[in-house]
Amino acid sequence: MKIRLRCALLLALAVNDSSAALRVDFSSADSIRSAAKTVASNLMTYYHGTERGQIPGILPGPPPKGPYYWWEGGALWGTMIDYWHYTTDTTYNTETELSLVFQANSPQNDYMHPNWTASLGNDDQGFWGMSAMLAAETTFQNPPPDQPQWLALAQAVFNTQASRWDTDYCRGGLRWQIPLSNNGYNYKNSIANAVFFNIATRLARYTGNDTYAEWAAKTWDWMSIEKGVGYIDADYNVFDGAHVEDNCTDINLAQFSYTAVILIQGLGFLHNHTNGQQPIWSTRLRLLTNKTLSLFFSNGTAVEPSCELENAIQCTTDMLSFKGYVHRWLAQTTQMAPFLEPIIMPILKTSAQSMAQSCLEDGTCGFRWNRGAYDGNTGAGQQMNALGALVSMLVHEPGVKVAVTNGTGGTSPGDPNAGSNTHFEGQFEMDNTLTNGDRVGAGIVTTIVLASLLGAFGWMASCAGEVDNWPEGRGVEKGKGSEKLK
Ligand SMILES: *[C@@H]1O[C@H](CO)[C@@H](O)[C@H](O)[C@H]1NC(C)=O
Ligand SMILES: *[C@@H]1O[C@H](CO)[C@@H](O)[C@H](O)[C@H]1NC(C)=O
Ligand SMILES: *[C@@H]1O[C@H](CO)[C@@H](O)[C@H](O)[C@H]1NC(C)=O
Ligand SMILES: *[C@@H]1O[C@H](CO)[C@@H](O)[C@H](O)[C@H]1NC(C)=O
Ligand SMILES: *[C@@H]1O[C@H](CO)[C@@H](O)[C@H](O)[C@H]1NC(C)=O
Ligand SMILES: *[C@@H]1O[C@H](CO)[C@@H](O)[C@H](O)[C@H]1NC(C)=O
Ligand SMILES: *[C@@H]1O[C@H](CO)[C@@H](O)[C@H](O)[C@H]1NC(C)=O
Repeated sequence: MKIRLRCALLLALAVNDSSAALRVDFSSADSIRSAAKTVASNLMTYYHGTERGQIPGILPGPPPKGPYYWWEGGALWGTMIDYWHYTTDTTYNTETELSLVFQANSPQNDYMHPNWTASLGNDDQGFWGMSAMLAAETTFQNPPPDQPQWLALAQAVFNTQASRWDTDYCRGGLRWQIPLSNNGYNYKNSIANAVFFNIATRLARYTGNDTYAEWAAKTWDWMSIEKGVGYIDADYNVFDGAHVEDNCTDINLAQFSYTAVILIQGLGFLHNHTNGQQPIWSTRLRLLTNKTLSLFFSNGTAVEPSCELENAIQCTTDMLSFKGYVHRWLAQTTQMAPFLEPIIMPILKTSAQSMAQSCLEDGTCGFRWNRGAYDGNTGAGQQMNALGALVSMLVHEPGVKVAVTNGTGGTSPGDPNAGSNTHFEGQFEMDNTLTNGDRVGAGIVTTIVLASLLGAFGWMASCAGEVDNWPEGRGVEKGKGSEKLK
């Protein structure tokens, strides 16, 4: 019922919209910066963490309290760090710093706060870790010395994840969920392992400590068809994951753009770290980039094919934010691997130009970028997408620094043993306060993915029919869209 109304609303918006698109002159850095400021300001209207009674650092959620899972807050602050880094606008730096520190889970400082146990995947924790790493790499303002530090936070995420590397099943790999009792604990997926790989490659380059590079290589090997479970196949498709009961052979063939791009960015760091002297990394980088650009851009515009269907948007709230990571991390890869600049940047530019057509003049942006018009499908993810596409156009502007290392200007204090005070299993045993709603909220990706595939047939019928038994998997959108109609 709710969903039917929403379809009607979207159709109405698409038909009635006659507003001008966001004005951007892509040949002018000033114009891009100005458009980015408008879109950033609109994005931050979704953040209420500084208001009385609200929790700092998070977007409204997790479901059923609001549409956004905890990880998306971590993704937001990474987006805002790039916004500052590329535009030099410091407006949101204080909120960004406070948020990344508040959610760190002091004194363990491992991004595993018990508040979020019910939806705590390695990928969720890892998104906060990647944003902390970005803060170190961009020399974002350091917190006061008595507070957690960016590099050490990324190391804590790395160390806690390395300690969870699981050789009991599938000869290695990280599980999706961290707590044993979460749905999805029996699933080993590409996103969890890709995020771990990404952080490891960046720590290798930043610190020069080869242990991180060895872990990255081990993770790639485990994912790949050559030596591992085959989540990355010979053609550089990156599939979603599989279950431990089946020795990770029941591979779910769904593909998501952010997984591939998180791997690409990590490969870019390894290419740069090894100075292009290890063809194994540079070759993989070239091939995965080629494949990913062909899968996730249609006529030069970013798409999310497993849920952005011709006649319907089937994406969960999570998935509605992937295009922004795709743009930002592909752009950053052209800094680490300049040989890819002529291949990647023209596509990012046509995609960003399409994106601008999907926004209103006030900086409210839709989700679909390839229809030449605003589609009325709005949210924090859609705003992060638009902002990511805009700021990525500034990546080669004069004065924009590339990721630093400890030896080339990095100032963030590290701690190779960070995260070793984490005793998560014990903490979880004591936490019997999870509600049923929380558990359902954690969901399982298989349900979502199946739903997406079925959605190709079923969802569109839903604009005319009921979808009451829609699986309430993690990230299945059930907040904002329907709440608005109440
Ligand atoms: C955890 O939840 C409590 C209760 O809502 C809140 O007061 C606290 O600020 C939260 N802490 C974090 C790190 O989210
Ligand atoms: C390198 O990283 C590993 C893994 O975290 C750590 O055990 C080791 O102490 C580090 N070495 C140095 C010299 O920091
Ligand atoms: C599990 O799969 C691996 C290949 O990834 C294979 O080498 C191994 O023999 C399999 N183990 C079992 C118990 O089937
Ligand atoms: C590593 O990055 C720097 C900074 O962008 C770049 O100048 C250099 O060419 C890169 N190295 C390789 C091997 O691409
Ligand atoms: C990918 O590689 C194929 C075959 O080499 C080539 O035809 C195509 O242009 C490449 N795509 C991109 C985006 O570079
Ligand atoms: C592809 O993009 C070009 C220029 O951006 C446009 O002229 C053309 O109509 C587009 N083709 C399709 C099929 O959308
Ligand atoms: C980083 O550089 C500083 C100053 O050059 C040095 O004291 C420190 O040991 C370095 N840290 C690492 C992890 O290499």
